[in-house]
Amino acid sequence: MKFNLKKGLLLGSATAATQIEGGDENNNWARFAAEGKIKDGSTPVTAADHYNRFREDIDLMAEMGLSIYRFGIEWSRIEPRQGEYSSEVIAHYREEIEYMISKGIKPLLTIHHFTNPLWFEDMGAFENRNSPEIFLSFVKKVVASFGDIVSEYITINEPNVYATNSLLWGYWPPEKKSAGALMKAFSNMTAAHVLSYRYIHEKRREMGYDDTKVSFANHLRVFAPANPKNPFHRMASSLSEYLFQDSITDAMMTGRCRFPVFFRKGLKKGKYYDFIGINYYSRSTVSGLADGVREDCYKNDLGWEIYHEGMIDLSNKLGKKYGCEVYITENGTCDNTDSFRSRFIYDQLKLISETENPITRYYHWSFMDNFEWREGESERFGLVHIDYKTQKRTVKESGKLYSAIIRDGGVSDQAFELYVKGSHYKK
Ligand code: BGC
Repeated sequence: MKFNLKKGLLLGSATAATQIEGGDENNNWARFAAEGKIKDGSTPVTAADHYNRFREDIDLMAEMGLSIYRFGIEWSRIEPRQGEYSSEVIAHYREEIEYMISKGIKPLLTIHHFTNPLWFEDMGAFENRNSPEIFLSFVKKVVASFGDIVSEYITINEPNVYATNSLLWGYWPPEKKSAGALMKAFSNMTAAHVLSYRYIHEKRREMGYDDTKVSFANHLRVFAPANPKNPFHRMASSLSEYLFQDSITDAMMTGRCRFPVFFRKGLKKGKYYDFIGINYYSRSTVSGLADGVREDCYKNDLGWEIYHEGMIDLSNKLGKKYGCEVYITENGTCDNTDSFRSRFIYDQLKLISETENPITRYYHWSFMDNFEWREGESERFGLVHIDYKTQKRTVKESGKLYSAIIRDGGVSDQAFELYVKGSHYKK
């Protein structure tokens, strides 16, 4: 064996509804795509047609041995107009969840993953001061619909990425460039998470369940000064780290609000997580307030540095600070030809398995190629290849390695020879 998987570590994968389902035109990303804003002209309205093919996809997951699955539901489908819920769509998701459970796959349900129903988007989404309560109404419906079969929830995916890309950098819809809007969204998303955390626990307790787990998915990066000897770089690095992630992370986890997150009336300090959800991808090299990448390093096809140690450092830091186990709710890489993903998986899982850290679950991003937001469907993160013309699914070599790791409880010499040896990073 090259290495044995860390004892008790569960391996699975993650997806998000809008990125794979197709067929929904009622959300802000479908509209953004219709406005011609996606780099390669693709649209989430087609995507991987998972909405119709979920059985085939879950069968594949089960064949590959995955035991945990983080997936999303599409708010705009369930609540197409404010206060109006579609029983047909709810029945569809129940069927999908029951199907995964019947295949031995434990669901972790993401309630909000970047997209908004048009009606919510057009009232200012999380900038709207009533958004926490509006979101909570949806959460109530989610728990009423799935609470008996789903015990684990992620309320909101990556509030920092959502808010900075949409409201500060103007890169995502609604393309705003406003620090004020960002602060409002940070504050309202914090309140939305806290209200939802409390509600899901209360309601499921009332329903007689005591196995509820709720948290949110943090997008965490490592920030490093471009030149560690330069005091300006050091300061810019710490400031970015605080503004982009530490402030919002702490507010969402504990209800303790400090600039740039503002306190909302009724918000109490407390513990609003049952696991620490970390989405980890890369390291930022900082010399100013925007993100940078070192020149001399391995990079993925989107130019992000491949830096596996960062996941371990962040997990240890947060695990210690918040005293809780860590789920890697996303980790993966953009590798359009699947030429280094196997090496990536090997290196990352080896590091998790051979170092001290509080990681107990690993959800690979992504199960299959998907609609990569503004980059469109050309940028590929999947273990399974999607042919967008025919919708044919093909397990990639990296997917076969992942499956072999689960089967063998680590990387055998044979799997290394077959999948990892010829897989190399690019600079
Ligand atoms: C997001 C995913 C996205 C992935 C790769 C994460 O920030 O949650 O939706 O596809 O990164 O960019």
